[in-house]
Amino acid sequence: MTLVIAMDGPSGSGKSSVSKGVARALGLRYLDTGAMYRAMTWWMLREGVPLDDQAGIAARAGEPVLVSGTDPAAPTITVDDVDVSGPIRGSEVTGAVSAVAAVPAVRERLVALQREIIGTGGIVVEGRDIGTAVAPDAQVKIYLTASAEARAQRRNAELSGATIAATQADLARRDRLDSTRKVDPLAQAADAIELDTTSLGLDEVIEEVLRIARK
Ligand code: ADP
Ligand code: CDP
Repeated sequence: MTLVIAMDGPSGSGKSSVSKGVARALGLRYLDTGAMYRAMTWWMLREGVPLDDQAGIAARAGEPVLVSGTDPAAPTITVDDVDVSGPIRGSEVTGAVSAVAAVPAVRERLVALQREIIGTGGIVVEGRDIGTAVAPDAQVKIYLTASAEARAQRRNAELSGATIAATQADLARRDRLDSTRKVDPLAQAADAIELDTTSLGLDEVIEEVLRIARK
C-alpha cells in the first residue's frame, strides 16, 4: 500500500519544513498544496480578475495550467510554463490568497489536481484540508500547531523589514479568513495526531512524525 502522510495546520506551524524533512527521510514525494493556491492567486492577479468577484474567479479557475514538482529536495511550481516559485511568496499574493482559496470552484479544481498527484505513489502532502477533504484515507495524519507568537517569529525571520507585530497581525487575518469559510479548511481531522511545535526544534518535530509514521 502506498504511504500517504497528511500534514495540516496554520501558517508558520512548520508544515513545509517538517513535510520536506519527513519526505526525504522516507524517500517519499512532497506536495505543497498552499503553493497551488498561491499559484492560482498569482494568475488571477496577473489576469486582473478582481478579488471580490467570486463569480469571475470561479469562471476562470479552470484556465491556468498548474504543474507541481514533487521532489522534496527541490519542489517547483509553474503556471502556464512560468516558474512562479518566487513571486507566489510575495506580499501581493500572500495578501490575496485567502480570498481566492475561498472560492469553491478553485478548491474543486485544485483538490482534483492534488488527488491526481497523490494517486501516483507515496507522498507527504501539506496544507489545510488534507486530512479532512483531500486525502481522508491517508494512513498518517498530523496536525501541527504552535503559539501565535512562535508562528509570527518564525515567519518574520524569513521576511526582511517586517515587524513581528505586523507579521502576527497578518497571520491572524489569514487564519481568520481561512477558518470562516463554509467548509473550514483549518478544521482538524478527528483522527489526526496533534503536535504542538512551539517549544520543539525542527529536527525534534521531524523525528516525532517519523516515529508516528513507523508505528
Ligand atoms: P508552514 O509551512 O506551516 O507555514 P514553515 O515550515 O514554512 O511553516 O515554517 C516557517 C518557518 O519556521 C521556517 O523558516 C522554518 O524553518 C521555521 N520552523 C519550522 N518549524 C520550526 C520549529 N519547530 N522550530 C523552529 N523553527 C521552525
Ligand atoms: O505557508 P503558509 O502557511 O503561510 O501558507 P500556504 O500553506 O502557502 O497557504 C496559503 C493559503 O492557501 C492559506 O492561507 C489558505 O488560504 C490557502 N490554502 C488552502 O485553502 N488550502 C490548502 N490546502 C492550502 C492552502
